[in-house]
Amino acid sequence: MSATSPHRSVLPPEIRARKGTAPLVVLTAYTTPGARLVDPHCDIALVGDSVGMVLHGMPSTLGVTMEMMILHGRSVVKGLTRAMAVIDMPFGSYEESPQQAYRNAARLMAETGAPAVKLEGGAHMAETIAFLTRRGVPVMAHIGLTPQAVNTLGGYKVVGREGEADSVMEDARAVESAGAFAVVLEKVPMGLAARITQSLTIPTIGIGAGVQCDGQVLVVDDMLGLFTDFRPKFVKRYAELGRTADEAIAAYAAEVRGRQFPGEEHSFPDTLPAKGPK
Ligand code: KIV
Repeated sequence: MSATSPHRSVLPPEIRARKGTAPLVVLTAYTTPGARLVDPHCDIALVGDSVGMVLHGMPSTLGVTMEMMILHGRSVVKGLTRAMAVIDMPFGSYEESPQQAYRNAARLMAETGAPAVKLEGGAHMAETIAFLTRRGVPVMAHIGLTPQAVNTLGGYKVVGREGEADSVMEDARAVESAGAFAVVLEKVPMGLAARITQSLTIPTIGIGAGVQCDGQVLVVDDMLGLFTDFRPKFVKRYAELGRTADEAIAAYAAEVRGRQFPGEEHSFPDTLPAKGPK
């Protein structure tokens, strides 16, 4: 299948129609093997721009480029048979104008095969979301804490407490009216997230936004415990793969230093054993 042919799996209208039914399960994926792991269990594999921090050691998502998203997006789409890929628009690729957003969204979809994009921002991005959706680009919105705006927000803080609640609700309504098929609510207080979920007709997908959202998303490396030093409150660790990997690598290093690895079973004899009588 080429990158531009129709995706085989779930498509945005089906995700939208899941509102009020079973919760949507979303995890990030950045590579083909990662996509193969999430595919049997998830409705959406999000090619998040978190890839910059997770796989490229960047301090934030701001340095992520279109080329990086295309490379990882293509890799993820190859590993999916049922889950839908959604690909993040990186910082600087959509904020300037609806036309710029369309050019880059079309490129992301055409060059990766992902059937939808995600972009950050509420009411101020509504015009762009409407422009994209009217031209065949399904958009998942992302409001609350928008990590690409970390420098204007002043950190990775909860967004929507007290005086901020009305503006987060307005953002949610604006992206829905603009045609987004779903909206990510990041680090939004749980009561507000529940009210937004009740008042929208599109699914809300929470990350640090409580259990009442229509779905949940996590960065897969976080929930697998691959980082030993990163423990945000909203992440539940379902495994401790970082610790397991550390123990395995330490055991390998000790065995190499102690000349215990490789054993005979991992080595090739100089002559093949004689074949016995038939
Ligand atoms: O980039 C990402 O992984 C995300 C999720 C955390 C929602 O945007």
